[in-house]
This record gives sequence, structure tokens and C-alpha cells, in this order.
Amino acid sequence: MSIVADTEPGSPDIHHAVAVLRAGGLVGMPTETVYGLAGDARNETAIRRIFAAKGRPADHPLIVHLADHDHIEQWAMPLNDAARLLANACWPGPLTLLLRRQRTVLDVVTGGRDTVGIRIPAHPVAQQLLRSFGGGLAAPSANRFGGVSPTSADHVRSDLGEQVDCILDGGHCPIGVESTIVDCSTDMPQILRPGGIPTEDIVAILGGHVHASSSGPSRAPGMLQSHYAPRCAVMLAPDRDEANTMLATLSGATLIDGTHDLVAYAHNLYALLRNADAAGATAIVAVMPPAVGLGHAIRDRLMKAAADRPPQ
Ligand code: TXA
Ligand code: MG
Repeated sequence: MSIVADTEPGSPDIHHAVAVLRAGGLVGMPTETVYGLAGDARNETAIRRIFAAKGRPADHPLIVHLADHDHIEQWAMPLNDAARLLANACWPGPLTLLLRRQRTVLDVVTGGRDTVGIRIPAHPVAQQLLRSFGGGLAAPSANRFGGVSPTSADHVRSDLGEQVDCILDGGHCPIGVESTIVDCSTDMPQILRPGGIPTEDIVAILGGHVHASSSGPSRAPGMLQSHYAPRCAVMLAPDRDEANTMLATLSGATLIDGTHDLVAYAHNLYALLRNADAAGATAIVAVMPPAVGLGHAIRDRLMKAAADRPPQ
């Protein structure tokens, strides 16, 4: 496995990564949200390697990443009005749309569903990789299943080691939480996962014609059980005072509070969770941000990180 840092257009490292992908290998790909574990979305063997590397159940579908709008119809049926509005307003960027799939999309990518998740990422390295590769790249977050998503090349290496053939080092992911997922395959679009595009923006773009709550039965597998979880226990505090009271009763616990700046809170969240594990913290007490802007995504991830889970 190599970590390569020269990610200028036409650089040898982008060429190397493309060669790895063409040979059915896996590449750690920086995006503006988190690092993805990318493989050729038309190569069934590569896709199976992604599931094996992550330890991820086979019925959890993968997002297909594209360089631009040009070839969407090779993957999805023509966009309806809601999908077109969101695509035009948010791509390239931290948005994933669930769209009715073309039949040619591999079942291993969609989990055999009638929809496919599509995203056009904005990160320059992801853009260069996608343009040089020239096709779709299936990529989940590049972490072990259930764990904290990676926001640096080192996170990818420490989670996946030799399971990934090459990691493109694009630095620390600017946004730091995953893309917002909107299901546009039904008459009323629904936000399935709050993420890098704030819920308020999606509601405004769609003129209110959207189910903005991701609660209730979800069409996206993997949204309900514990996810995004560090090894140590995570406890949630409504504010800093309550957090300090909780900390006073716990030995070896550490505090996470970025509520004064939600953009920075999102940017740093996963590194803070990982650092607490690395430092041997017994528990994390995290202060919940308000449900505004990136606060929606941070609250969602913290609640999933804090969900009951079997001892690890
Ligand atoms: O920001 C992101 O979205 C990152 C970067 C790498 O693009 N990717 C990411 O992928 O977070 P992943 O696989 O870790 O999370 C995607 C979620 C999964 O819970 C998956 O089940 C759901 O999206 N998903 C993808 N395609 C789907 C589909 N066709 N139907 C329902 N759920 C889908
Ligand atoms: Mg993930």
C-alpha cells in the first residue's frame, strides 16, 4: 500500500491511482466530507473487495461518485424536478441523491435495490481522480464497518492498512461529516441522512416539498443501529454545565464541545472521537449542538455514536 501526496492534475500519483482502479484495486480517496474507499463501480470483484475490506454487510448499498452531470443517465433514470433542483444547486458538493437506477448498475452496488445513490464530490483530488478514471467510483467511507469515518489519510491507513492499495493524501477533509442523503425516488423527497448540506438549505431549495426528518422507518440500511462509534462509550450532554457535572462523576472521561462554532465542530468531530480512543479515554462526554446548520449532522452522528452497542 502506498500513500501518495502529489495530487496535482496529471501527476504520476493520480495516474498510479487510476492504474490501481483499472486493475480492480482500491484507492483511499479524499473528498470534502470524509475519505472514501473507492473501487470501479462496474467491476464486481472490486466491489466485493470493498465490502470485505470494511467488514460491511453485503446489503448496505454504496454511493456511486461521478465527475460531473454528463453521464448520470448511465446510472440513473432521468432526474425528476426535485432531483434536478438539488443537483443544480448542490453539485459538485456534499449531497447524495437516491435515484431510480438503470438496470445495468451492479446489484452488489445497490444491494439489489431499485435505487442508486449518486454523488458528484467537489474535492479537487476526488475530481482529478474521477476525471482521469473516466467512470463511476463506488465508495463508502473508508473506515471499518460501524466505526468513525476517516477525515485524514492516516485515519484510512490505521483503519484499513494493507486492504487499500493506494491512498491519495488530500489533507484533512474540509467539511468533516458525510454527505446529506436525499431520497428522490419517491413523489415526496425525504432527507435520509443529515450531512454537509444543512437541512434548512435542502428545504429551501425544494420550497418545503420534502420530508425533512430522517426519523421513522428508513429506506437506507445502516441508519438505525450504532454507527460512527469510537471504542469508548459516548455520553451526550445538553450543554456545557451539564457536561461538567457528568465529567465530575467519571474518571478518565474526556470532553468534546465545539458548540461555539458548528463548522469547526463538524470539521474536527471525527478526529476528536478518534483521539479520545487513542488517548485511552474511558468515556467521551459530548455537548450536543443546536439543530441548525451543520448541527443537524453533528447531532445525528453523536446520537448514533452514543447508541447502545455490544462491548467491542
Ligand atoms: O460523504 C459521503 O457520503 C461519503 C463520501 C466517501 O462520499 N460516503 C459515505 O458512504 O458516507 P457510506 O457508504 O459510508 O454511507 C452511505 C449510506 C449508507 O448508509 C448506505 O446504506 C446508504 O448511504 N445508501 C447508499 N446507496 C443507497 C441506496 N441506493 N438506497 C438506500 N441507501 C443507500
Ligand atoms: Mg460510512
